[in-house]
Amino acid sequence: MDTLRVQLGSRSYPILIGQGLLGERALFEQHLPARDILLVSNTVVSPLYLSSLENCLRPRRMVAVILPDGESHKTLANVARILDVLIANRFGRDCAVIALGGGVVGDMAGFAAATYQRGVAFVQVPTTLLAQVDSSVGGKTGVNHPGGKNLIGAFHQPVAVMADTGTLATLPPRELRAGLAEVIKYGLICDAGFFAWLEAHMETLLAGDAAALAHVIRRSCEIKAEIVGRDEREQGDRALLNLGHTFGHAVEAATGYKEWLHGEAIGAGLVMAADMSRESGYLTVDELDRVTRLVARAGLPTHVSNVKPDAALELMRIDKKVKAGRIRLVLMRGIGSAFVTADYGEPALRHSLATHLG
Ligand SMILES: NC(=O)c1ccc[n+]([C@@H]2O[C@H](COP(=O)([O-])OP(=O)(O)OC[C@H]3O[C@@H](n4cnc5c(N)ncnc54)[C@H](O)[C@@H]3O)[C@@H](O)[C@H]2O)c1
Ligand SMILES: [Zn+2]
Repeated sequence: MDTLRVQLGSRSYPILIGQGLLGERALFEQHLPARDILLVSNTVVSPLYLSSLENCLRPRRMVAVILPDGESHKTLANVARILDVLIANRFGRDCAVIALGGGVVGDMAGFAAATYQRGVAFVQVPTTLLAQVDSSVGGKTGVNHPGGKNLIGAFHQPVAVMADTGTLATLPPRELRAGLAEVIKYGLICDAGFFAWLEAHMETLLAGDAAALAHVIRRSCEIKAEIVGRDEREQGDRALLNLGHTFGHAVEAATGYKEWLHGEAIGAGLVMAADMSRESGYLTVDELDRVTRLVARAGLPTHVSNVKPDAALELMRIDKKVKAGRIRLVLMRGIGSAFVTADYGEPALRHSLATHLG
């Protein structure tokens, strides 16, 4: 087992990564003092892993809320359901909420924990690759609104993240590939060596090799923990984590959040960010080629034919990252060194959109 730490002063917490953590009672004893536990999961994940988690937590008082599966259910109404159960069971401020599932469950359970009695302890037990490398770390919680994704939320750090890599064995291959988009993103942001490692091990990862997956989860969490430790509230460097996301969000929004998984849209978004970096003179043709090939080898799209470049540009202008009317983008000065800028040529942006969309 590996243990990392997110360093945030009094809100610091451990990230535990390993095969079979859901069988380790002692770990839960050590990291979770609460005696009253609200378990939040969904209809897909709970039949697979809820009883193992409950076994680790006995003999505490446990109540479970099982939500419907899917992004369309990441709503305020479902957070209200969680809060109703906390209140109905008279849980006090010393209770803990545990999220067992992917990012959808984690974001909702975290938001409920952030608001119940102005904040109770929260533990993430992520079961998708995306959640293990990204959404369970960093304290962003929230829900969607018909007006947009993740529009309602709060920062609320967990007290621990427990990533059992064994749970990835049941994850659908498409979901595994989607998680790899975020992994590739970390290499591109700040670790050229990790990017090269991914180039050498992509097939091994896609085959579900446990050791290779454990390595990428650890390195991804290290990078995210380091960036979040520097900039918890996204005043500066945390924006680097949005590499590929302004492009990707436009793809998701243009296709009604139905056609592409988030990670798939981010795959295409990383290629668009690389293309724009190349057009701006920051990346060589060879580097752009490496990015495009790795994204494709991960089974992710590098071109999205059912989104028009102009429609994407419009959607990018209303993404959350717009400041003073100018879209702020994350570009790369070479593989492994991303930077945030609002100072770029409009033709480079249009070229990138025209090449990879429509
Ligand atoms: N809070 C953050 O910082 C942050 C960061 C990135 C993404 N997110 C959010 O995360 C969400 C996406 O998360 P996701 O990709 O994990 O999607 P998800 O939670 O919908 O999980 C994907 C699918 O896999 C199923 N599943 C989960 N674990 C499984 C397992 N071990 N075996 C079999 N099936 C399993 C789920 O039930 C679901 O059908 C989005 O809502 C996104 O906004 C949040
Ligand atoms: Zn993402």
